[in-house]
Amino acid sequence: MKRLIFCIMLSLGGFTLIAQDLKPIMLKAPDMTRGCNIMQAFGNRASVTDVDSRDLSIQDLSDLLWAAFGINRPESGKRTAPSAMNSQDIDIYVFLASGVYRYDAIENTLIPVVAGDHRSVIRGRGFNNAPVFLLLVSDISRFKHGDEALRVGWANMDGGIVSENIALFCAGVGMGTRPRAGMPVDELKELLWLTTDQRLILNHPVGYLSKQ
Ligand SMILES: Cc1cc2nc3c(=O)[nH]c(=O)nc-3n(C[C@H](O)[C@H](O)[C@H](O)COP(=O)(O)O)c2cc1C
Repeated sequence: MKRLIFCIMLSLGGFTLIAQDLKPIMLKAPDMTRGCNIMQAFGNRASVTDVDSRDLSIQDLSDLLWAAFGINRPESGKRTAPSAMNSQDIDIYVFLASGVYRYDAIENTLIPVVAGDHRSVIRGRGFNNAPVFLLLVSDISRFKHGDEALRVGWANMDGGIVSENIALFCAGVGMGTRPRAGMPVDELKELLWLTTDQRLILNHPVGYLSKQ
């Protein structure tokens, strides 16, 4: 239906950007000094079932995304997570109250995708309070060779590694998350205008740990 409306808008010459009212969000440089030591982070890692409703600070959101799949070697553009043949196929869509954004690691910016609060689409069971949801999407067209089955296998592995970066970051700084394969795939693909090459891998609700 959204595509139909989009086509009608185009044909009427009244083209309106979907996210026109939404501004990019400039992220902060990562704070490399924070967090507990790596063994404590492994010790803390666990999938939580809910988080606190407080919004993440801009520094926490920035550090979360950088840890997930930011650029840690600017000279080569390589990232905090490996990817098959360095294809860097994982895009992170960030669901906030103001809209859905795509993490641009090169510009360290959130690029608006869709305006409005769409967190209910991805919320699923529990996590009624989560301020942020991350959706990991692989663009399998970025793999330069391999048939579809091979590409999907690489996509799942690459997404899994980014997922673990998210989990370990959260464990290291006292935040909570859970990797989830369950999600309304068709609804999300339509919302985000995804192509057939863009495969939904996992999503992560993220927030501060609920006070006990
Ligand atoms: C690939 C994958 C998919 C998962 N999908 C879901 C899911 O759809 N919903 C959910 O509540 N948890 C999901 N989980 C979380 C697991 O249930 C959780 O990791 C498991 O119970 C072990 O708990 P732990 O992570 O605290 O060790 C998923 C985990 C993985 C690795």
